[in-house]
Amino acid sequence: MSNPLVKRIVVMGVSGSGKTAVAARLASQLNYSFIEGDDHHPRSNIAKMSSGTPLDDEDRRPWLERLNQLITESQNPIVLACSALKESYRQILSEGAPNLTWIYLSADQSLILNRVAARQEHFMPTGLVASQFRDLEEPAYGLKLDANKPIDQLLPKIIEHIETKESKKVIGLIGLGVMGRSLALNLLRNQQSLAVYNRAEEQELIKDFELRSQGKPVDIHLDLASFVKGLETPRKILMMVSAGRAADLVVDELLSHLAPEDIILDCGNSHYRDTEARQAKCQSSNVHFLGVGVSGGEQGALWGPSIMVGGNQSAYQQIAAALNLIAAKSSEGASCANYIGKGGAGHFVKMIHNGIEYAEMQLIAEIYGLLQPEYSLPQIAEIFSSWNASDSESYLLGISAAILRHKTNDEFTLQNILDRAGNKGTGSWSSQLSMQLGVPSSMMTSAVYARYTSSQKSRRVKLEAQLGPKQAPNRAIDLDQLHRAYDAARWINHAQGFELIYTMSEESGYEINLSVLASTWTNGCIIRSRLMQRCQSIFKDHSTLLDHAGTLQHIEAAQDDLKDLCKMGIDLNRPIPAHISGLSYWQQITQAESTADMIQAQRDFFGAHRYQRRDDPTTSYHTEWE
Ligand code: 6PG
Repeated sequence: MSNPLVKRIVVMGVSGSGKTAVAARLASQLNYSFIEGDDHHPRSNIAKMSSGTPLDDEDRRPWLERLNQLITESQNPIVLACSALKESYRQILSEGAPNLTWIYLSADQSLILNRVAARQEHFMPTGLVASQFRDLEEPAYGLKLDANKPIDQLLPKIIEHIETKESKKVIGLIGLGVMGRSLALNLLRNQQSLAVYNRAEEQELIKDFELRSQGKPVDIHLDLASFVKGLETPRKILMMVSAGRAADLVVDELLSHLAPEDIILDCGNSHYRDTEARQAKCQSSNVHFLGVGVSGGEQGALWGPSIMVGGNQSAYQQIAAALNLIAAKSSEGASCANYIGKGGAGHFVKMIHNGIEYAEMQLIAEIYGLLQPEYSLPQIAEIFSSWNASDSESYLLGISAAILRHKTNDEFTLQNILDRAGNKGTGSWSSQLSMQLGVPSSMMTSAVYARYTSSQKSRRVKLEAQLGPKQAPNRAIDLDQLHRAYDAARWINHAQGFELIYTMSEESGYEINLSVLASTWTNGCIIRSRLMQRCQSIFKDHSTLLDHAGTLQHIEAAQDDLKDLCKMGIDLNRPIPAHISGLSYWQQITQAESTADMIQAQRDFFGAHRYQRRDDPTTSYHTEWE
């Protein structure tokens, strides 16, 4: 990683805008090193331009990567002169160096044509000027200056801009609860320039953060106006506050202090529809609002979460480099922070992530239930650990093994935990959406209901007392079979979850790339697993897992094992709703015939709802049944 304390300035603009002259003078005045971007073009690029052919993205990529390497490796402050015409080029330059200062020399085409025509000894012919303007995407950030002005007038403005920028922090964060505090500490560990704000009433949180961030250059504000003032523009403000009303209050208050082009990133577990409403509200003030799903719990937020961003893509680009620094990395070294799609896509996928998470947790809990009392807790831990050393590896299986082994005062901690599951709503939101869209997500829904049923503890106690304990006959358990069945159920759960995402993306125009999403979930998040890595590659050329022959074969091969697991659960009176839902879905979706002919006939019988005939599916019929 680059040294974030090194100051780096990029003077950009089309060829002939004067960036070399301005950058060189600036470097000499500040006593910084000067890098002329054009000096680092590969020969082939120079030859291409000299012959009058404009460079394309592929030509420019190695050149920009080389410049990025130069600026990130530099231990001296530098000024770089580089056209950096497109946002994607600026992203390449910023990789690993998020806090670049951008000076953009803006000029109109006629001025540039005259200048380029007058230039001797430069490879750029006038014929390429138009293509430079075609490629140019003006940055919405940095300092924009009129290239027509003399350098002596431009320099003081640049110096003033740099001084103002230096007196301000680059990233703001609101909310010092567990997740906010962890994200802030992660940003600081990655040497990001940070200011935080928390409501003054929450003294404990503030003191705790002061203690943990001691020695780090962070500004702590208890007043929102001064917090906002202390940030460089366009402001980039992460909020980590409770979803719902608290988030609304913060956004409303923030808006009264922000300026056009500022960016708010809501990193909490907000409902994606709320996010879209906030995006619309912020848009009327020309403020960008990004809905950001963050997964990984406290440790993830601190050491590398998975980050799913939805909303305006160019606003995301402005914070992408910092998010990449703090996010987890995939096994291939790719960042697990990604732009996921438009509108509320970031929070939407986080919601479904949690739906998948609910079912994954439930499947493990069901196996834990099936194995008892024949197996002790440490024995179950061993079984989970051995599965975790196979293709079934997942974060949740790993922590479940650790939970089973954990002791408090010589007693297994798990044994003393009340069996009443809580929830914060995201699982039920996912299920509600699956109902609205008509996409069966029976596994996550059964997991939500299992939590609700578990929470009716007193009723369960009462009914058991009334009816007597359920018989639980002993039965030999084939562990390999159990493993295969669990594995098949997980594939079905992922098939359902991703299908929900695919359908929603199609219907809402989110434009979610499932492979990018699965890659974002290969590390940092709660549902990271080897299966997710498989999903990443399968989704490169499939839009649902049920279109993938390998997945179908894999589940089909374990179908009998899943059936046996379900029979065993039923016989032993050990509830296994998620496994049963998975099997039942699989049995339905893989059979051409269903019993819906009867449903249709019933509907028509009592309500004249009409039906289609097998030999004429496009016409509707009614029968006088009586
Ligand atoms: C994550 C988790 C996280 C959190 C949920 C738990 O991805 O980091 O899913 O979002 O733990 O809020 O939700 P429940 O309380 O509903 O289980």
